[in-house]
Amino acid sequence: MRFTPLYNILFLLSLVLLTSCQHDIINQFNTISKDTVFVVTPPKGNTPGGTSVSDTICFNTEILPIYVSYCASAGCHDLGSHREGVVTTSYSYIMNGIRAKNVTGSKYYTIIGNGMPPKSSPQMTTAHIASIKKWIEQGALNTSCTNVCDTTVYTYSGAIQTILSNNCGGCHGTSPGSANVYIGNYASTKAYVTANKSIFLNAINYSTTITASKRMPPSGKMVDCKIIQIQKWINNGYPQ
Ligand code: HEC
Repeated sequence: MRFTPLYNILFLLSLVLLTSCQHDIINQFNTISKDTVFVVTPPKGNTPGGTSVSDTICFNTEILPIYVSYCASAGCHDLGSHREGVVTTSYSYIMNGIRAKNVTGSKYYTIIGNGMPPKSSPQMTTAHIASIKKWIEQGALNTSCTNVCDTTVYTYSGAIQTILSNNCGGCHGTSPGSANVYIGNYASTKAYVTANKSIFLNAINYSTTITASKRMPPSGKMVDCKIIQIQKWINNGYPQ
């Protein structure tokens, strides 16, 4: 097929228009409502000894904390800085770069490891990336789970490592860490918490006795069940 010069110009023009407002148009391809929250049965398959109730990825406890922790640090993609117009602090904002069931068309997925997070910042783990991929394949829904974990499991390798990596890793996962709090592996976490137990517990419990900026993670309190797991890990002498 031959293009006349006019067709060529129109084609180029539409390309320019399409790429220049990519952030805005991407959601025309998503048909799901951003206001709907799907409350789902929690997945228990990932806890040792747990029976697999559902393998649905929970947006609120698994996906949002990863995007907040690794992309929304101050100066990057939080509401205040919104670098390049990108914000990753809520479902609606994240959906500006995600296409449900279309992994390769989801810019906020494909950019991971291809420029973002910047080389100098903590990188998402392969487990984080796999969760995001699976969540998109499952329809990128605003799934909200409440009772998401088994509080009888509280070893570092069985629960704590994942909780801290998902919720804190982007800011405190590499040394020295935000505010010089480094909790990136077993030894560093045990050392920090041993020396700063009440500061740590007040921070994750969103204690009203401390300044709001010191409540962690900054995006919102973790679900109770995860806080209980961390407390049990501490009270039982940091089991590996
Ligand atoms: C988006 C980045 C970010 C994430 C995610 C994050 N933190 Fe922080 N954290 C900070 C910053 C910034 C400060 C310093 C706040 C201040 O001094 O007001 C801080 C401070 C702290 C402090 C010291 C508080 C104090 O009183 O000195 C602790 C403890 C802490 N974080 C633990 C955590 C834990 C545990 C998690 C995960 C459950 C977490 N943080 C997730 C950015 C983050």
